[in-house]
Amino acid sequence: MQTATSEAGEPRPNDPRHLAGHETILSPRFYRTDYAAMERLDVEPVRQEWDALMREFERDENRAHFRPDDRFSAEVKSLSPDLEKDFHDFLISSVTAEFSGCVLYTEMKQQVRNTDVKRVMGYMARDEARHAGFINRSLKDLGLGVDLGFLKKAKQYTHFRPKFIFYATYLSEKIGYARYITIYRHLERHPEYRFHPIFRWFREWCNDEFRHGEVFALLMRANPVLLEGINKYWIRFFVLSVFATMYVRDHSRTALYAGLGIDADEFDRRVFEITSDITRQVFPLTLDLAHPAFLVGMRRLSAIAAASEAAQARRGPIGGLKRVGLAAAGAVVFARMYLIPTKRNDLPGSVRLAPTW
Ligand SMILES: [Fe+2]
Ligand SMILES: [Fe+2]
Repeated sequence: MQTATSEAGEPRPNDPRHLAGHETILSPRFYRTDYAAMERLDVEPVRQEWDALMREFERDENRAHFRPDDRFSAEVKSLSPDLEKDFHDFLISSVTAEFSGCVLYTEMKQQVRNTDVKRVMGYMARDEARHAGFINRSLKDLGLGVDLGFLKKAKQYTHFRPKFIFYATYLSEKIGYARYITIYRHLERHPEYRFHPIFRWFREWCNDEFRHGEVFALLMRANPVLLEGINKYWIRFFVLSVFATMYVRDHSRTALYAGLGIDADEFDRRVFEITSDITRQVFPLTLDLAHPAFLVGMRRLSAIAAASEAAQARRGPIGGLKRVGLAAAGAVVFARMYLIPTKRNDLPGSVRLAPTW
């Protein structure tokens, strides 16, 4: 069993406190934004739907969900070293992502006086704190608990304009929903692959994430300028960035997906499809997932990321130079993918799909 600290109490390079605080292009980020602009948000154009959503938050049907049951500990299986490493990495990046949402929503709640924004941020911070706490509990059982207070202070914060926060957070909530429900449905069919009980919690969990995504969907629909003109190019950029980050990260965790009995390529394609189906309700465009260059580009990015990691392990000037070259190659592949024509969506905001996948 790994321990969180050395005997002197200092984090070891591979311990979770270190890994969770470590910044890579793929690690979940912590955000701050322009709170004065958040103040001016107006939800009146979508008031009815907004109020219905607030009632859902208030009902808080998952209040008692995030607690381990009697079977929990007995279902924790011992894992092969590769699967254990990938699973721990998955839990640590998940707790970091959940907690980063909690920090962002709490800050917004504290900094903004707009009562609609303040209220919803409070609800979402509540949910994300629960999610982060539940994962951290599993990590603690494995001797890997992350000190969230330490993480809040140690992490670097990225400052984003509100509209970028909306695109990024909307996508990450919806992609979180799509990932959790896809894993949950797969393990429902193949319980023999459920090597840890935390996956049993994913159905209700994903409904929380779906609801969080709806908040940003409504905020964008209430402020349609965010979905028009030059912003279409930003949306395209954010969708591709979020998709590419997920693809590269999932393909660096091959043991995790093999352990779950999931083909990572198929899984990512399914998650892209679900996320595109959902985001069609808001975004004026979707990526052409069926375009032959799309998957080729994703595979190239994944190979470049793997080569870059190998170069980093070499250290020294040659490793450094190689990484610069690989980063440039990655940027070219990304730019080519960005230029694949997108599919126009003429019906944003016309339907609200229920989470039925
Ligand atoms: Fe969450
Ligand atoms: Fe969320």
